[in-house]
Amino acid sequence: MPVLLPPALERSLDLLRCPTCRTHQLHPDRGALRCPVGHTFDIARHGYAGLLTGTRATSGDDTAMVQARDRFLATGAYDPVRGAVARLAAGAASERGTVLDVGCGTGYYLAGVLDQLSAARGLGLDTSVWALRSAARAHDRAAAAAWDAFRPFPLADGVADVVLNVFAPRNPEEFHRVLRPTGRLVVVRPTGRHLVELRRRLPGMVTVDRSKETRLHRALAPFFEAVATEPVEYPIVLTRTEARDLVAMTPSARHVSETDLDDADRLPDRLTVSVLATAYRPRR
Ligand SMILES: C[S@@+](CC[C@H](N)C(=O)[O-])C[C@H]1O[C@@H](n2cnc3c(N)ncnc32)[C@H](O)[C@@H]1O
Repeated sequence: MPVLLPPALERSLDLLRCPTCRTHQLHPDRGALRCPVGHTFDIARHGYAGLLTGTRATSGDDTAMVQARDRFLATGAYDPVRGAVARLAAGAASERGTVLDVGCGTGYYLAGVLDQLSAARGLGLDTSVWALRSAARAHDRAAAAAWDAFRPFPLADGVADVVLNVFAPRNPEEFHRVLRPTGRLVVVRPTGRHLVELRRRLPGMVTVDRSKETRLHRALAPFFEAVATEPVEYPIVLTRTEARDLVAMTPSARHVSETDLDDADRLPDRLTVSVLATAYRPRR
């Protein structure tokens, strides 16, 4: 039986361009998406479009990381971060706008933005099929597609009112190409104080590079200028299981030893969340 075209994906078809020939629109055809030249892409039975074919992506969260992220985000510990993203995005998109989330993970932030915009549609891109399974179910107006942020996006020019980029890989040139001239890019990244208590106690935790802000500015400056920044900093209190999930959902999961995670003294129960959320306007 061919896979049915999910309604949110159907509503996103006009945004998409064939990833192979890069010019034609894609049309549904017996459980797949096809361009007029004949390039064909599966619609996974989990509801996302499998646009990433050929060369395998080099990065992307595995199933354990995605499950940990799903559980951790469900605790509400990052709701204030999601609130800041939604405020910055809602200022830029109309109620019927289009929101693209690059490196969308489970779709948690995309869903938060769509909740604030009663008729907007969303599209999440990610390399991780495990994340895309969740993202395709995150909101009834959110579609999801497999794509590598470092390759030219399978999207038409100037189609997005908002591009979200939350703790995820960036492609400033492509963000600029797919945004409307009046659109906004919303970037969230950690400050040096983010989860500092964990990093002090767990030797394998990935540190926040001191030059991160400078590098971000250098990468975005040719394409974007910042219009508003919301610093978001607050304490959270976690159970041991929640703290384990917080480690397990990040790339640190590959570097922190099980012994350290099992050591009750090493997992602090009070942590600082500290991020910057910035809205950028495209330069013309
Ligand atoms: C730290 S997670 C953040 C996910 C989501 N934005 C959030 O904050 O919940 C980074 C995400 O980027 C995805 N990712 C990694 N490399 C990627 C790439 N080259 N292109 C697209 N997504 C990628 C991972 O699979 C993961 O879902």
